[in-house]
Amino acid sequence: METRVFSAILVLSLALLALLNVSAVAEEGEKVLTLDHSNFSDVVSKHDFIVVEFYAPWCGHCKALAPEYEKAALVLSSHDPPIVLAKVDASDEANRELAIEFQIQGFPTIKILKNGGKNIQKYNGPREADGIVDYLKKQAGPASAEIKSTDDAGNLINEKKIFIVGVFPDFAGEEYENFMTLAEKLRSDYDFGHTLDAKYLPRGELVQKPTLRLLKPFDELVVDFQDFQVAAMERFIEEASIPVVTIFDKDPINHPYVVKFFQSPNAKAMLYVKFSKELDSFQSTYKDIAKQSKDKGISFLLGDLEAGEGAFKYLGLKEDHAPLLIIQKPDRQKYLKTNIEPAQIAPWLKDYLDGLVKPFIRSEPIPVVNDEPVKVVVADSLQDMVFNSGKNVLLEFYAPWCGACKEFAPILDEIAVSYANDPDIMIAKLDATANDVPRDTFEVQGFPTLYFRSANGNLKQYEGNRTKEDIIDFIQKSHVKSALDDLAEPESTKPEAVNSNSAKDEL
Ligand SMILES: *[C@@H]1O[C@H](CO)[C@@H](O)[C@H](O)[C@H]1NC(C)=O
Ligand SMILES: *[C@@H]1O[C@H](CO)[C@@H](O)[C@H](O)[C@H]1NC(C)=O
Repeated sequence: METRVFSAILVLSLALLALLNVSAVAEEGEKVLTLDHSNFSDVVSKHDFIVVEFYAPWCGHCKALAPEYEKAALVLSSHDPPIVLAKVDASDEANRELAIEFQIQGFPTIKILKNGGKNIQKYNGPREADGIVDYLKKQAGPASAEIKSTDDAGNLINEKKIFIVGVFPDFAGEEYENFMTLAEKLRSDYDFGHTLDAKYLPRGELVQKPTLRLLKPFDELVVDFQDFQVAAMERFIEEASIPVVTIFDKDPINHPYVVKFFQSPNAKAMLYVKFSKELDSFQSTYKDIAKQSKDKGISFLLGDLEAGEGAFKYLGLKEDHAPLLIIQKPDRQKYLKTNIEPAQIAPWLKDYLDGLVKPFIRSEPIPVVNDEPVKVVVADSLQDMVFNSGKNVLLEFYAPWCGACKEFAPILDEIAVSYANDPDIMIAKLDATANDVPRDTFEVQGFPTLYFRSANGNLKQYEGNRTKEDIIDFIQKSHVKSALDDLAEPESTKPEAVNSNSAKDEL
């Protein structure tokens, strides 16, 4: 007992110390400027280079970033010229216009504002102090570094990253200017250099001038390009920087490419295998197929089963379904081949392209016991329970995390209880985060969404208030006696069942 009290006191005094520390720092003056709608433009217009973090006070990542950002601001305040770091609470209603102007969609978002705010560049750097300092020093310097020796090249070019270098007869003229414009534009995504002599570069023999050379850690390793139009260079870089096959494993070096892969508008083919055992037997076959399918609008990813665990769980799949090939189309329709062998990839892909593969519908298992008042529907039982049951069905699409659904749950339960003895009416729910919802039938844009399907096939969304009274009223007006009952039951029982008032009174 005593030890517990003691440790409680210890914790308290530590917390107190921490508090004191914080206020000490605050007194010294924070280096990060706080901006808001009243002074944002004014402050930004006075800076050639200023970094702004758009944050929300409640955001965890922002809280983690704050001390690092502050440390970086302190170091960078003595940079020559000083680099200024600022922050804006973009969740504050008063700063709403700023959040819209800078298209803030998540927290934290960091932007680099140059030239009095005329040029805006996203911050793609690390989130800890040293990394922030290095990244910003580089962003504040020239967009492209001159390479004057093999040593320069060695220092600048990281063999595990994409590096873009312009080789010029001299540093003047339209090609050179365009290259610099491009470097400025894409500097937060890629590293740039320029040189008069390609022999300083890796594999740099026999390069004609001018040439745009892209060095990358995958596929051909070196690609050259000679069209110096800015848009053409941009397209070239975009294409050349996507690997034929994106590798998805635990190596962070590969992660920027994985992010790109998922941003692509293409259909996405994802092959998941156990890298420790099966990588060799799949990799070259898969890569050949990817190369041959270049014009098919498909991007290819090869994922380690371990790294892909999340994707597996999401699809409701198990490890013993691997090796697994999934294709996800831009409309999110999925096609899937479990336990695939290397020799089956090409024929299956051909079948897919020929429209012979049926889409995969993600579903929870059909529950064995389903005897609660509110019935559980899953994707695989949707047809049988909702469309072919001959019943009037009120179906709730919900998400387990949704607060409004939790509030609504007891109401739905009461409604279900009141219809428990009515064979014509079923109250049901479907977890729309664990089951694919047919998009051509239901429009589920928020949770909960309620649909009613009458026994004679009318399907409509319930838009009224989610109270027991209103919903029961709606069901009474909308339901029809099922066709099955019509056949089975004698004429005389009919009026009772259609009489909505008496049914309602019972409830
Ligand atoms: C901007 O205005 C806010 C609110 O008045 C103030 O807290 C903040 O210190 C100001 N920032 C600067 C850099 O003047
Ligand atoms: C829902 O309830 C509110 C107030 O309780 C009412 O003003 C509104 O008309 C109702 N909507 C429908 C569709 O019944």
